[in-house]
Amino acid sequence: MKVTNIRFKSSDLIEKSDGLRFNVPQRGELATGFVVRFNGKPYAYLNQCAHVPIELDWQQGKFFNLTQDFIICATHGAHYEPNSGRCVLGPCKGKSLQPIEVYETNDEIIINLESIP
Ligand code: FES
Repeated sequence: MKVTNIRFKSSDLIEKSDGLRFNVPQRGELATGFVVRFNGKPYAYLNQCAHVPIELDWQQGKFFNLTQDFIICATHGAHYEPNSGRCVLGPCKGKSLQPIEVYETNDEIIINLESIP
């Protein structure tokens, strides 16, 4: 059966803390996405840097920089705005992460995999 959405408990997604990873089968066997909470809202992206298409997190789920105000790429340090996915510093400045539709309702975070092109 084709998986069209992924659900997490809202309480598992902590503000500016570890992101939750999930598989994105339609982008290949090993492709992953992630969701983080920033200023109260969930934001989900494909886990693929806009510079070189490799995963961002330096350890699984570790997406934020030390001051917890940017998503960073572990490889060359690109900084992305958590709420827009736009790279504001680093080799892919001006490019963006691929957003994935996400919403929160009834204490659940729901990721819509069908929103991925
Ligand atoms: S691979 Fe992410 S900044 Fe180079």
